[in-house]
Amino acid sequence: MDDFQYRNGQLFAEDVNIDELAAKVGTPMYVYSKKTLLTHFNKLRDAFAAVDPVICYSIKSCGNINLLKLLAGEGAGMDVVSGGELYRAQLAGADMSKIVYAGVGKTDAEIQQGIEAGIGYFNIESEAEFENIAAIAQQMGKTAHAALRVNPDIYDPKTHDKTTTGKKETKFGVDIERAKRFFDSYGNNPHCKPTAIHLHIGSPIYSPEPYVKAIEKALVLIDELRQAGYTIDTLDIGGGFAADYESGKSPDWQEYADAIVPLVKDKGLKIILEPGRTISGNAGILVTRVQYLKKGGNKKFVIVDTGMHHLIRPAMYDAFHFLWPTQCDPSQAPVERKAEMDLPGLELTDVVGPVCESSDVFAKQRMLPSMERGDLIAIYTCGAYGMVMASNYNAMVRPPEVLVDGDSATIIRQRETYEQLVTGETEPQAV
Ligand SMILES: Cc1ncc(COP(=O)(O)O)c(C=O)c1O
Repeated sequence: MDDFQYRNGQLFAEDVNIDELAAKVGTPMYVYSKKTLLTHFNKLRDAFAAVDPVICYSIKSCGNINLLKLLAGEGAGMDVVSGGELYRAQLAGADMSKIVYAGVGKTDAEIQQGIEAGIGYFNIESEAEFENIAAIAQQMGKTAHAALRVNPDIYDPKTHDKTTTGKKETKFGVDIERAKRFFDSYGNNPHCKPTAIHLHIGSPIYSPEPYVKAIEKALVLIDELRQAGYTIDTLDIGGGFAADYESGKSPDWQEYADAIVPLVKDKGLKIILEPGRTISGNAGILVTRVQYLKKGGNKKFVIVDTGMHHLIRPAMYDAFHFLWPTQCDPSQAPVERKAEMDLPGLELTDVVGPVCESSDVFAKQRMLPSMERGDLIAIYTCGAYGMVMASNYNAMVRPPEVLVDGDSATIIRQRETYEQLVTGETEPQAV
């Protein structure tokens, strides 16, 4: 799962005691484990070794440049969705030929930036976008490369509606039935060459079956396109592979690979994967301090110093994040992370943040150890879609990010200051 484990009732990130770290850095803070990040990346590579995939880590899940550098150092490519993410990938020294660029609204400037950088593929989300990329490549005297994103009309009922993307009526990609027509119009375009098919059916996907169904449909399409004379040499399977939010709920990489590899092996296709959360999710925790305890009716509330402005997934997707005090009686140290915990001395508790929204809730009616003002709580599996989605709502500063490597810890992003909050808000200037 990860390298955030209890030793004698105290939480450690690898060999770093979290309470001692918080005493130096302050709270709230995001803490990442280098070992977990790289282990997850390497396990994925090993599981899919038979098809030697290009693994394009999805920057949107967690984009700190220091973490990107670690992954680029292991040979990871990157999946980007904006000029800003491409810039991050460039700063991290990623191999530009291993960049895939998705997103339904790429601007002309972003397209130019991608072509200039020599990225691997633009993932094409519409016919209009393809025409624009081809026109810009022509103006620049360059050739762009493209993967057509198709919607196989597959979805996993366990995936939240707001993160389901493979259905027909989605803003992403084109219907699979339209793909053949797309190639008949653009398959031989000299300025932007579509030689790949891209899928991304949503996230998190909690079983291999939706991938299998989607890939089977894509392979039928690829056969049809090849028979019509088009060169299709690459299949990008996308991301969405689940992280371990709860013990034992998500398949491991081997299970996904065992189902997917036999389908795509020996098909003469380069295979691209775009995982985000499976690599970064379990590599990060958010550490927060208990501010106050209060009663509301019969409910017991624990109010903490972080909230939906630092971790929006519970408010936005009803996402479950396991949380637990960083110090507890050894008999209460969790060996499993589950929504319903059955250990001695737990109390029904709501854990809430300070933001003026009633959706600012991390845990509702959960069995948790009793806590006091000043205690620390770790919120787990926050490495993905945590800090990247943090905001300054309520004029709160964003927390620092700390990277642990063995027994050492380094700040890889400073805590914001009030001055930074207002940077850019200049005296009115004439336009
Ligand atoms: C096109 C695409 N690829 C990859 C990902 C990464 O998904 P995950 O972090 O769930 O693996 C996303 C997430 O939204 C995506 O939209």
